[in-house]
Formats: sequence, C-alpha cells, structure tokens
Amino acid sequence: MSTRSTSRREFLQFSAAASLAAWTLSHRAHGASSFTAPPFMSGARDADASSFLVPGALERRKFGKTDMQVAVLGFGGAEIGYEKTDKATVAKLLNAALDAGLNVVDTAECYLDSEVAIGEAIGARRKEYYLFTKCGHVRADGTRGDAWTKEGVLASVERSLKRLKTDAVDLVQLHSCSLDELKKGECIEGLEQAKKQGKTRYVGYSGDSLTAKWAVESERFDSLQTSINVADQECIELTLPLAKEKQMGVIAKRPIANAAWRYDAKPESGYHETYWKRLQELDYAWAKGDARKNEGLDGPAATAMRFTAMQPGVCVLIVGTTKPERWKQNAELLAAGALPKEAHDSIRARWKAVAKSDWIGQT
Ligand SMILES: NC(=O)c1ccc[n+]([C@@H]2O[C@H](COP(=O)([O-])OP(=O)(O)OC[C@H]3O[C@@H](n4cnc5c(N)ncnc54)[C@H](OP(=O)(O)O)[C@@H]3O)[C@@H](O)[C@H]2O)c1
Repeated sequence: MSTRSTSRREFLQFSAAASLAAWTLSHRAHGASSFTAPPFMSGARDADASSFLVPGALERRKFGKTDMQVAVLGFGGAEIGYEKTDKATVAKLLNAALDAGLNVVDTAECYLDSEVAIGEAIGARRKEYYLFTKCGHVRADGTRGDAWTKEGVLASVERSLKRLKTDAVDLVQLHSCSLDELKKGECIEGLEQAKKQGKTRYVGYSGDSLTAKWAVESERFDSLQTSINVADQECIELTLPLAKEKQMGVIAKRPIANAAWRYDAKPESGYHETYWKRLQELDYAWAKGDARKNEGLDGPAATAMRFTAMQPGVCVLIVGTTKPERWKQNAELLAAGALPKEAHDSIRARWKAVAKSDWIGQT
C-alpha cells in the first residue's frame, strides 16, 4: 500500500532504530537498575528528564516513579487472545519484537489464551521484558464473571503467573472494575497483598473517565492504563495531568484508535464501532478517503500513534496486533517523534469543536 519509496531520511531513521535494537539486546530490560543512554543517543534528554528524544530512534521513557525504563511502543495482548492467533504466529511476532527492542508486554487473564500464548512464546526470555497483566474477570472456578474480592484478586494473580510461566510479573492492574468496587477497596487490598507476597513488583488500575480519576486521586496505584487516542481524548485533561503530577506510569491503551479508519462502512465489531462513528464526525483529512492508504509519517497510523505518544505523561503505547511484521513497522513510524505542532493542535481543536458530552473514555 505504500506510495513512497525509501528516502535517505527514512534509511537513516531505520539505521538509528536498528542501532537502538542492537544496543537493547545487550542491555536487557532487567539488566540495569537505572537507564544509561546508548552511545549513539548523544545524551539527548528532555527538560523534565522523563524521556529521551532522539530523532530516528525509538524512545525509552521512565515509567513514573518505578525503576522501569520502557520503550515507547509496547505490545497489547488482547488481539492475539480474542482473534485466537495460532501459537506459531504469536511466537514469531513476540520473538521478532523482542529482538527489535520491545520491552513491555501487556495482557490480562480474561483475554482467552493470550497469557498462555505469551508464556509459551517468550516465557524463556522473561528477563528481557517487563510483563504487565490484569485481573478481575475470571472467577475461582474458571468461569467468566466479576471477582473483585481480595481472595478473587489473589487467585487471579496466581493463575496468571502459572499461565505466563513466571514467578512474578512487573505489574498487575485491576481490569476496569467499577467506582463502587474501587471504593469498597477489597480488590485494592488484594493487589497490595500480591505485591507484599512478591508476586508483582507494582500495582495499577486500568480503566477510564471518572473511575480512572478516582483511582489516580486515591494514590494507591503505581500506574494508570487508560484509552488515549485521536478518537478518545477525555483523559488528556481529566486524568493525565494529575497522573503525571503524581508520577504514575501511564499506559496508553487502544492507542491507535483501533485503526477504525480502515472500515469503509460501520464495522461489524461493536468494539470498533464507537471510534469509527467518532472518526466520521471528527472528519480528520488524514483519516478519510484515499489518505487512509498513506503508510508514511503523515498517514493515519503514524499520525494516530505520534499523537498519543506526545501527550504529557504517556509512557508506553500498547498497540494490539496479530501480525508478526507490525511491531517493527510501528516502531519505525513512532521513531519519527512528536507530530508537528500544527498537526497536533488541529487534532485537539477538532476534538474540542466536535466531541459530545457523552464521548467519554472507552473501556
Ligand atoms: N480495559 C482494559 O484494560 C483494556 C481495554 C482495551 C484494550 N486494552 C489493552 O490495550 C491494547 C490495545 O488495544 P486494542 O488492540 O483494542 O487497540 P489498538 O491498539 O488501538 O488497535 C489495534 C488494531 O490496530 C491495528 N493496527 C495496528 N497497527 C496498525 C497499523 N500500522 N496500520 C493499520 N492498522 C494497525 C491492528 O490490526 P493488525 O492486526 O492488522 O495489526 C489491530 O486491529 C490491548 O491489546 C489490551 O492490552 C485494555
């Protein structure tokens, strides 16, 4: 679909990304207690020291006040579960991504066999990546349903560790429980207990809108995973500034807006429908008609990811995919860095002009 031949600039960007990948291979995710910039990064560091801005290389960012330095592009594990991607493809996809610099893998107990597939594919390379999972949607007997009691959360964590073939994960998140459950507090106590037991190094909340705001204000979590994208911008004012102030690690879920511009007509999947409808009304020039075929740095995929990655406080984008080539392709697009200011500001202005009061963060 690409309409452009490889330019010298793109070649240089790719070379820098490849250098970062090579450097990453020799500095495993857990290998060092603090991040040292690779030599080719020439010490470039932004003003608040929360990120490393190097034209042409995939950035690493400090994950809130944790000890993690995360590559700005991570892997979202829902798609491989729900799409029932075969194990050979998952193994190819994840191993290739790890080889190229991936260091965050996010999944959940309820994404069908996602945890099992990840454990089988890269369990043996566990020291090379940060592993995040989520709990709360599977009962003790394995049936689907809410399990927000302290025991329910602890049992979910145990099952995840077995499926992921590891003794401990880096982060367990409450998987979008309601505000009532959060206020009840048992599920948070369960997470804290799992942390005390050494089953997870950090604890987080995954969810949106006013519930996410409560979670941030509670100061009980190390991280927030929330929907941030060109079709879902409520969090940019509602939760991100506070999460940044409280030095939480922020994970952008649905970061490429489910690539909902792909559909010529309303998608069959209800999950993709909300963003598709919003995009129709937002009517971004780069996300309609033939512009949708542009795979370059100003095409829809790059524009959507670069927009998400430049929101203050965002640490990592967990893009979902079932395709082995995707991670490297998206890493090269993201390596271009922030969108030009005018492009960013016009996306924000359009949202402010068009978004309705019920366009809240989508779970
Ligand atoms: N409540 C929660 O906690 C919650 C809710 C939703 C999501 N999440 C997390 O967030 C992750 C990401 O969410 P998501 O997968 O729903 O949304 P997403 O990452 O915004 O969208 C994924 C879709 O984008 C497509 N895509 C990726 N790169 C592309 C590119 N360069 N060009 C065109 N299409 C591209 C993928 O298709 P291909 O297969 O063709 O690459 C896939 O269908 C999930 O895996 C999950 O870990 C958490």
